[in-house]
Amino acid sequence: MDAVAADTVARLKSVVGPKGVVEGDDAEPYFREQRGLYRGAALAVLRPASTDEVSQLVSICAEARLPIYPQGGNTGLSGGAVAARNGVLINLGRMNRIRALDALNFTITAEAGCVLAELQRAAEAADRLFPLSLGAEGSCQIGGNLSTNAGGINVLRYGNARELALGLEVVLPDGRVWNGLRALRKNNTGYDLKQLFIGAEGTLGIITAATLKLFPRPREVETALVGLKRVEDVMELFARARAASGDQLTGFELIPRIGIDNVLRHGEGFREPLATKHPWYALVEISSSRDGAHLRQALEDLLAAAMEAGLVQDGVVAESEAQRRELWRIRAALAEQQEKLGGSIKHDVSVPVSKVAEFIVRASAAVSERLPGIRPYPFGHVGDGNIHFNLTQPAGADRAVYLKRWAEFNRIVHDIVVSLGGSISAEHGIGLLRRDELARYAAPVELETMRRVKAALDPHGIMNPGKVV
Ligand code: FAD
Ligand code: MLT
Ligand code: ZN
Repeated sequence: MDAVAADTVARLKSVVGPKGVVEGDDAEPYFREQRGLYRGAALAVLRPASTDEVSQLVSICAEARLPIYPQGGNTGLSGGAVAARNGVLINLGRMNRIRALDALNFTITAEAGCVLAELQRAAEAADRLFPLSLGAEGSCQIGGNLSTNAGGINVLRYGNARELALGLEVVLPDGRVWNGLRALRKNNTGYDLKQLFIGAEGTLGIITAATLKLFPRPREVETALVGLKRVEDVMELFARARAASGDQLTGFELIPRIGIDNVLRHGEGFREPLATKHPWYALVEISSSRDGAHLRQALEDLLAAAMEAGLVQDGVVAESEAQRRELWRIRAALAEQQEKLGGSIKHDVSVPVSKVAEFIVRASAAVSERLPGIRPYPFGHVGDGNIHFNLTQPAGADRAVYLKRWAEFNRIVHDIVVSLGGSISAEHGIGLLRRDELARYAAPVELETMRRVKAALDPHGIMNPGKVV
């Protein structure tokens, strides 16, 4: 570190004080990345305790043109929170207060470092629901969720993070604070600035707090796991479920047989969920905030009709909350246990719901033709058209040699996605992992507009440089 940088870092440390500086081995977790694809570094790891401290840090960095790498729970799957040795990592974890909860207005205002599960609990304590829910909810933070426009398992009913945000407080790249914490459902006063920062992955500013929508808490929840022969049948079941239960359909997730086999083999305490094995499974959940909604009957009727039509082969409706959790545990374990099968090349794509089956069939055939024995492992939020189309290496193949073909398989899969009018990044964001893919697939006018927005807000390019655009 040169003398100027050393002086800047010393000033930054004095802003946050000893409690806000992480050093030595303690800094390691901040440099680790979920999938081990990248390794971070930084001149300093700083944990501010207030918006004012964030503002002071950013002002000093702006003056010194020192790069800033914002970080939340560091659970992102695209390398967006990976810092580099030329700058400082600002982790929001100490800013974890719930600032306000207005039960009548159905809103909550929380600081960016509030862990998602804590936010859900705060809502529940007020007999409200904060519906954003994903596998990493025990450690990801609401600031990170908003910055990646996170999706998860309830998007079908409640929308993704963007749709849940009413207002934001943001520290801009020059250090000024924009207080846009409005708790309004209607507000047409010019450009909707908060939308710029949602999904920007820390490239336009640091989110320090958010006002979010709450919902009535579900009183009845019914969940089923069903086995099906073809992925086309899964999507036909989805259409029927949607039509029959309208906005009571809360979740509709795809599970492939390879995932069940993997979880049974490598996970702990799992049992074969149905009496016989099936190529595909759908996890279906409906819920209502009304008691006496008779959801169980509705779900059973739906499944009985689908069985009669030959769509569904077998199924189980959870008899208790414990059994419901067990079914969801299988779904959550799909992602966690994937690496046990060897190298996995990831795709987080979306296509129109009507094209999901075609996509899975075409993409599976195309990758198998390129590499016989490759094991497609498609799962996820097909009710949103979002498939985690991950590709497990052929059994016995060399992991490192296989993973070198990452870009080659991305090309095959993403070309099909784009030909179907889809997106190469449905919910995990661009970060480092898909930056070059974005540059390849985005229309020139789209990319140029994004770069102009970036230049307008962050003219010195200090905010999470190297990410997204
Ligand atoms: P981080 O990983 O710390 O950061 C993510 C990005 O946001 C980075 O670019 C970072 O610079 C930026 N950032 C973080 N905080 C701020 C801030 N306050 N201001 C400005 N920029 C900021 N994602 C889904 O969408 N759906 C899923 O179903 C899902 N399931 C997952 C399951 C598992 C087991 C895991 C490990 C991850 C999963 N993810 C999922 C991905 C991840 O959890 C989400 O992307 C989450 O929103 C990231 O939040 P975070 O706080 O960990 O952010
Ligand atoms: C999930 O839905 O389980 C995650 O978004 C997928 C993943 O970890 O790849
Ligand atoms: Zn997901």
